[in-house]
Amino acid sequence: MQIEQRSFLVTGGASGLGESVVRAIVAQGGKVVIADLNESAGQVLVDELGDNTRFVRCDVTSGDDVQAAVAMAEEAFDGLQGSINCAGIAVVQKLLDRENNPADLEAFSRGVNINLVGSFNVARLVAASIAKRVAASTTAEVNADNGIIINTASIAAFDGQVGQGSYASSKAGVVGMMLPLARELTRHGIRVMTIAPGVFATPMIQSLPEKAREQLEAAVPYPKRLGNPNEFAKLVVHIIDNAYLNGEVIRLDGAIRMV
Ligand SMILES: NC(=O)c1ccc[n+]([C@@H]2O[C@H](COP(=O)([O-])OP(=O)(O)OC[C@H]3O[C@@H](n4cnc5c(N)ncnc54)[C@H](O)[C@@H]3O)[C@@H](O)[C@H]2O)c1
Repeated sequence: MQIEQRSFLVTGGASGLGESVVRAIVAQGGKVVIADLNESAGQVLVDELGDNTRFVRCDVTSGDDVQAAVAMAEEAFDGLQGSINCAGIAVVQKLLDRENNPADLEAFSRGVNINLVGSFNVARLVAASIAKRVAASTTAEVNADNGIIINTASIAAFDGQVGQGSYASSKAGVVGMMLPLARELTRHGIRVMTIAPGVFATPMIQSLPEKAREQLEAAVPYPKRLGNPNEFAKLVVHIIDNAYLNGEVIRLDGAIRMV
């Protein structure tokens, strides 16, 4: 699918990987609705990037919020061709603490709700918008690459570490739902892909203590550094462009395997 003149919903687009995706799509002549909880950062980005962007305050776990974001893209940009779901949080807690007290169930659920249920919520509403447009069109065809849904998992889906029970299971869920969704959406010409990033230099990682960041960097075989968010955005651009990529999860991780 070409990016120029097409419009995309980027959740979590006000920061980190999502922000980088927003910049890359706009640089290619595409249009973006940034859907994020962070209003001030989202507005700063729209002010900088101009008319091909809009911001909407959106919690990905809310049906009403995501529907409003989809409606904004349909109205402002005359239709929506896909979504890149980057909204996410990292809940870190062990099953048992130092005194053997059990983990907080609400914290576990919050991570699963935002990372997994939020991804499903965005996928269902974006797919409905694209499928209805295709059904109403006299020119659209099933093989015409009508839409693309890209979700962000994590290598934690495969190599979860101690303390990542919520995070790893939420991301494994993102990987697991991809194939059924990709299979179902073939009849609408909509592809579903997942990227599993390793460790990227974003506010999520930069907020870690310096020692923890250094350890992460040292664990990457090659290149021996954190991933640059631009490298994530380049993969998103390629996935959108390459119509034969469907129903697959791509690790983008400098060969790191977490232990
Ligand atoms: N940075 C990494 O190393 C890394 C590695 C693997 C996976 N990931 C995943 O990539 C995605 C982006 O991470 P990042 O590093 O750019 O993080 P980030 O914290 O820089 O950005 C995440 C954005 O999501 C938004 N957000 C959080 N909860 C939301 C909600 N309920 N609704 C809407 N927006 C919400 C935040 O406001 C923020 O702008 C996440 O899903 C994360 O799990 C990141």
